[in-house]
Amino acid sequence: MNPSTNYQYLITAHNDNLAATTRRPGFFVRTYGCQMNSRDSEKLTALLLNLGYEPAASQEAADFILYNTCCVRESAEDKVFGHLGRLKRVKKDRPHLMIAVSGCMTQQEETAKKFQEKYPYVDIVFGTSNRHKLPEFIWRTMEMGKQVVDISGIDDTDITEITDVSVTTREFSHKAGVNIMVGCNNFCAYCIVPYVRGREKSRPMADILKEIEAFAADGVKEIMLLGQNVNSYTGGFPELLHRANNIDGIERIRFMTSHPKDFSDALIAAVRDLPKLCKSVHLPLQSGSTKVLQDMNRQYTQTEYLTLAEKLISAGIALSTDIIVGYPGETDADFEETLTVARKIRFSGAFTFLYSKRSGTPAANRTDTIDSKTASERFDRLIAEVYPIMLEINQAKIGQTLEVMVEDAKPDTTYKGRADDHTLVHFTASDALHPGDIVPVNITEAKTFYVSGKTKEI
Ligand code: SAH
Ligand code: SF4
Ligand code: F3S
Repeated sequence: MNPSTNYQYLITAHNDNLAATTRRPGFFVRTYGCQMNSRDSEKLTALLLNLGYEPAASQEAADFILYNTCCVRESAEDKVFGHLGRLKRVKKDRPHLMIAVSGCMTQQEETAKKFQEKYPYVDIVFGTSNRHKLPEFIWRTMEMGKQVVDISGIDDTDITEITDVSVTTREFSHKAGVNIMVGCNNFCAYCIVPYVRGREKSRPMADILKEIEAFAADGVKEIMLLGQNVNSYTGGFPELLHRANNIDGIERIRFMTSHPKDFSDALIAAVRDLPKLCKSVHLPLQSGSTKVLQDMNRQYTQTEYLTLAEKLISAGIALSTDIIVGYPGETDADFEETLTVARKIRFSGAFTFLYSKRSGTPAANRTDTIDSKTASERFDRLIAEVYPIMLEINQAKIGQTLEVMVEDAKPDTTYKGRADDHTLVHFTASDALHPGDIVPVNITEAKTFYVSGKTKEI
């Protein structure tokens, strides 16, 4: 069947299920997890818009609800189940409501099965690698009147379908995420991502550049190159940065995430020298102990991480990080090593996590787990170490003028924006500003997570 006829049929069918047949069905998408999932949600949103759905004013008013989920830690999954539990009642009151769940969490076979057995009111369950089939899933649900569960596609080698999409759908007008690769081959022992995102697949450079050019033509000022491990991009990551840097209209380029094991000198030079490359890098440490790093299969030592971090810092690049506390087998001495590294490097931002057991990962089989009291004590000590450093780093910005890109503009209140080095800046301005504008801001105050100031009068 011709796709447009198919969609037409679909919308008509959905409308037949609505009380008012003349209005378009409304959708509501909720996203959990990382930037990759946010970008996936934009693509799913584009599909729904193409089908004829329109954004609902709220979740309560929606005819179609989609949760795009994360499973990196247990708390992420708990949140989804909590929200889904509440939808059961909503569906009772509004039987025509269609509920779909997708993403990393449902990609796990056991979880998909759990939906089949315990969540019959969820109509569609799909994964990370078959979202382009959403129209078909909706159609099948309506045709057959029963739950559709399909998490296929994870091992497919062709990523064109899941990365190509209309460039017109995105959450922000001034910034956009661009997938450069998907999947992960690193298999860190604690991490579920390689199992739910599949093997690394890089996108052709020409496609990536074309997408960035289209974004630039549409007014985008900042792009974030996305991948679980962007520096293993097979087309050459430094080369891609050079080419992206030449695209007119784009003013800032960021990327997320880099693995320390393959951060080359050519990449450091590219970040340092290319004018549009933001001078900040997110470089997950995970642990400061070489023994724990080895257990985690991180493929670098404490010394190697320190050497790399020092190179980046002396190139004028700010570092932020992720740290896991309470990994199985972590001794007090191992934990002290993490504190030492944090003290030495002085991260400008740190996401700290309690280790969360993920079934199916090698770490889940370990019996030398850390009791929760010890783990949370260590967690508190880590925060007590890294947060004051972040505050000091921000205090050093008082008196400076930072070039800030406006992130959200709410007239009559303070603006929020980001400096080139990713510092969050709250500020007041005498003129009306718009997202994507870059303005000089005099910094007058510092907190742990942001600095404040006022635009400089020119
Ligand atoms: N690809 C990225 C990270 C993705 S997950 C990278 O390699 O850097 C984001 C962060 O979640 C990780 O850096 C890690 O610190 C944390 N994380 C992943 N699995 C975890 C687990 N099982 N328990 C606690 N934190 C975890
Ligand atoms: Fe997970 Fe490690 Fe891959 Fe990051 S590099 S997604 S932490 S397996
Ligand atoms: Fe979560 Fe999947 Fe991202 S597990 S962190 S949404 S890749």
